[in-house]
Amino acid sequence: MLISAKKMLQKAQAGHYAVGQFNIHNLEWTKAILITAQELNSPVILGVSEGAGKYMTGYKTVVGMLKGMLEELKITVPVALHLDHGSYEACHTCIEAGFSSIMFDGSHFPIEENVEKTKELVNICAKKDISLEAEVGSIGGEKDGVVEMGECANLQECKKIVDLGIDMLAAGIGNIHGVYPPNWKGLSFETLAAVRKLTGVIPLVLHGGTGIPSGQIKKAIDLGVSKINVNTECQLAFAAATRAYVEAGKDKQGKGFDPRKLLLPGTKVIKKTVQEKMELFGSLGKA
Ligand code: 13P
Repeated sequence: MLISAKKMLQKAQAGHYAVGQFNIHNLEWTKAILITAQELNSPVILGVSEGAGKYMTGYKTVVGMLKGMLEELKITVPVALHLDHGSYEACHTCIEAGFSSIMFDGSHFPIEENVEKTKELVNICAKKDISLEAEVGSIGGEKDGVVEMGECANLQECKKIVDLGIDMLAAGIGNIHGVYPPNWKGLSFETLAAVRKLTGVIPLVLHGGTGIPSGQIKKAIDLGVSKINVNTECQLAFAAATRAYVEAGKDKQGKGFDPRKLLLPGTKVIKKTVQEKMELFGSLGKA
């Protein structure tokens, strides 16, 4: 069932758990995540970055693939299809293509421009029952071999954006995409608590879910985080399992080179990773 993320996150917030956003890159990824969600009776959000959208030959292809899978695999748990870190242009394209949720990442614009563009998207999304996530304070990550530490969001800017009527807020709390460096200071719970106090009950989003220690994840959920994004962890698991298969020479045995066999170990570990995250986030049985 393809629905807006708003409904599932409001439920998550009332129930004190978080829904996982797992990014998809191809058919294997999408199928593995959907089957796991169905087996565990968990709501799920499928994230599509602009890069992955292009790789999968466009957002319309993604919508078509997902709708086909929901029907063929008889998926009945709530699923949202979400644009991850969308530009203003990509937001419009995804709305047209049939996404049920979008993120407008206006964190790099001056606040006035971020507000103006977000406001326009709030109006469009409300009419079409599409959920809208906005970001304040950039999420760090690796760029050209250098790891940038994540920012802590400016509270007044958070309030300005939330007051526009967005459905969920990604506020930077020192989190970063990719693997955390050894000198990472951890999440700023002080910032998270302050954002929560100022913005009220709006569901908060934690980006950079890969490698955050379980204790910090649970504390973030307690402080109002209802959506947690995970991407790199599934990629690392998929790559390691595929490498092990090839290094063991299994692609050279019989028809081990068949992509259905070659990609199977990676697909299995995506299922395992997604299951572990859903258990940690507390979304099992919450469909
Ligand atoms: P990771 O790649 O660090 O898991 O982050 C995912 C994410 O936040 C996508 O927006």
